[in-house]
Amino acid sequence: MPTSHPAQPVVAGSAKCLVVDDEPGVRGFLIRMLQTQGFQCFEASSGQEALRVLERIGEPPLIVTDMRMPEMDGISFLEVVRVRYPDTSVIMLSGVSETTTAVDCLHRGAADFLLKPVSMSELQARVSRALEKRALVLQNRGYQETLERQVHEQAVRIQELFLQGVQMLARALEAKDAYTRGHSIRVSQYAVATASRLGFSGVSLDGIRLGGELHDIGKIGTREAVLHKPGTLTEEEFRQITEHPLLGERMLSPLAQESPDVLRIVRSHHERLDGRGFPDGLRGEKIPIEARIVAVADAFDAMTTRRPYRESRPPTDALTELRRVAGSQLDPDAVEAFVEVYPIPQPAEVCV
Ligand SMILES: [Fe+2]
Repeated sequence: MPTSHPAQPVVAGSAKCLVVDDEPGVRGFLIRMLQTQGFQCFEASSGQEALRVLERIGEPPLIVTDMRMPEMDGISFLEVVRVRYPDTSVIMLSGVSETTTAVDCLHRGAADFLLKPVSMSELQARVSRALEKRALVLQNRGYQETLERQVHEQAVRIQELFLQGVQMLARALEAKDAYTRGHSIRVSQYAVATASRLGFSGVSLDGIRLGGELHDIGKIGTREAVLHKPGTLTEEEFRQITEHPLLGERMLSPLAQESPDVLRIVRSHHERLDGRGFPDGLRGEKIPIEARIVAVADAFDAMTTRRPYRESRPPTDALTELRRVAGSQLDPDAVEAFVEVYPIPQPAEVCV
């Protein structure tokens, strides 16, 4: 190994190096050699003392340590260093009789070992090699971290684009229908206010906001003639309506990993506490709480807006009706929370 081989950036300037040896003469010799390589050297006469020095100076790129020392020997010291300072390269010094142990050191994470007596050229070459390897490891880790961050950022961006797409779809779906215009935004706002009252916050509240906005997205697959039919639905037409939660859930499946609560809302917002809802006929607390909250908001908005088959009802009537069906159709706690937070201020954009 040529001694002139440049050690990578860690050697440049005044990189720190800790020299650990119980013999002051050896320590001084090693320090002088390492200083010629540009290191700012620190010293310790035992493993214990070295650990105290490390607490003071932080994680150095390099430690050169003897194997046989009082208090704490080189191997015990190495094991502690690997745990506390995993990015430090440790070069072990050993006598000829300790070569087996020295090889063992490599298995325990030492960068290299040197036999005593140490020559200047040998030490410099081994130090350069150890630090070059360390620099490569750090560089690879940097690439890895950058790559992982980029992949994560792209995944987030893809999900944002997907969400923007389905949100636009939901609004476009409503925009062409005078009866449901603004419905999903109002449901979302009612549900968020109710959920906040019930103690939801942070990401769980975000899930309810989005779930409220998208709860009826599956209606894109329901024929308009059925959606807007003024009279009673036939059995077949009703079956078509009941498919929208499952279709919506399928449409939003890309959110399954990041926002499972949104999918729960979309699937279960037509369940009833008494088990007579759809699509799964869930009862009581088997219905996800987020869906129970959105169901209250959905019921209120449906009652207070005009539909093809009936006129709108005044809010006070609708609140009374919510209380009447609390316990059979709707969750009583969610109903009470909604009644407490109503009326909820409406931003101008949803009143268009
Ligand atoms: Fe619905």
